[in-house]
Amino acid sequence: MNQNLPNFIMPITTPRLTLRPPELADAKVANAAILESFEDLSRFMPWAKTPPSLNETTDFIQQAMANWVVKKSEEPYLPLFIFEKVSGAFLGSTGLHHMNWEVPCFETGYWLRTSAGNHGYMTEAVNAITRYAFIQLGAKRIAITCQRENVRSKKIPERLGYVQEGVLKFNRRDVQSGTLTDTLMYARYDLDGLLDLKVEW
Ligand SMILES: CC(C)(COP(=O)(O)OP(=O)(O)OC[C@H]1O[C@@H](n2cnc3c(N)ncnc32)[C@H](O)[C@@H]1OP(=O)(O)O)[C@@H](O)C(=O)NCCC(=O)NCCS
Repeated sequence: MNQNLPNFIMPITTPRLTLRPPELADAKVANAAILESFEDLSRFMPWAKTPPSLNETTDFIQQAMANWVVKKSEEPYLPLFIFEKVSGAFLGSTGLHHMNWEVPCFETGYWLRTSAGNHGYMTEAVNAITRYAFIQLGAKRIAITCQRENVRSKKIPERLGYVQEGVLKFNRRDVQSGTLTDTLMYARYDLDGLLDLKVEW
């Protein structure tokens, strides 16, 4: 187990959202959300190749719960499920990926169920995890990467004042067409100028 890791106080709350590690009891709602959103997820997410069964979603959650104990920098990394605070409805997922505890630095990624899109929920969730990483985890850097064509995804770091550090030219293939394409790299090194948001943990 990694020693001397920061204290991951949970949950994280924002005006509209609660973010927390997955629990077994989430399997049914998470699976329903993935199935509902499969067309959107399979457009860009390499893991969304076939619609998962409830057992597969349960397995993922079990692996995530195990990794939340040991915090190894490998899949499934450290996912955080996102719920609407008032209704408790499952909205999607974000989390911390590619952790380098020595810096410390992280990447974050995200997906939202289709029916929860266009309400600003993911921008709010990523704002929250950015604050959490810098303030609670002592991060020196948090990065977001996305495929060049994923316009909705790249708007999130751009809205939140992440700097575009560069383009990794021809380092991936589009998951659907197999066409060679590029990865956009974004990062923040502090919270300067981040949109105001009341985030608690
Ligand atoms: C990427 C993804 C999470 C973006 O979802 P999204 O709904 O566009 O993002 P948000 O929840 O932050 O919502 C932002 C939109 O809500 C609008 N909005 C509506 N009400 C709002 C409110 N109260 N506050 C803020 N924004 C609001 C914003 O204007 C924005 O729309 P715009 O881009 O047309 O201006 C989603 O498309 C997705 O899950 N895609 C599939 C998986 C994926 O590609 N993940 C990323 C891999 S790198």
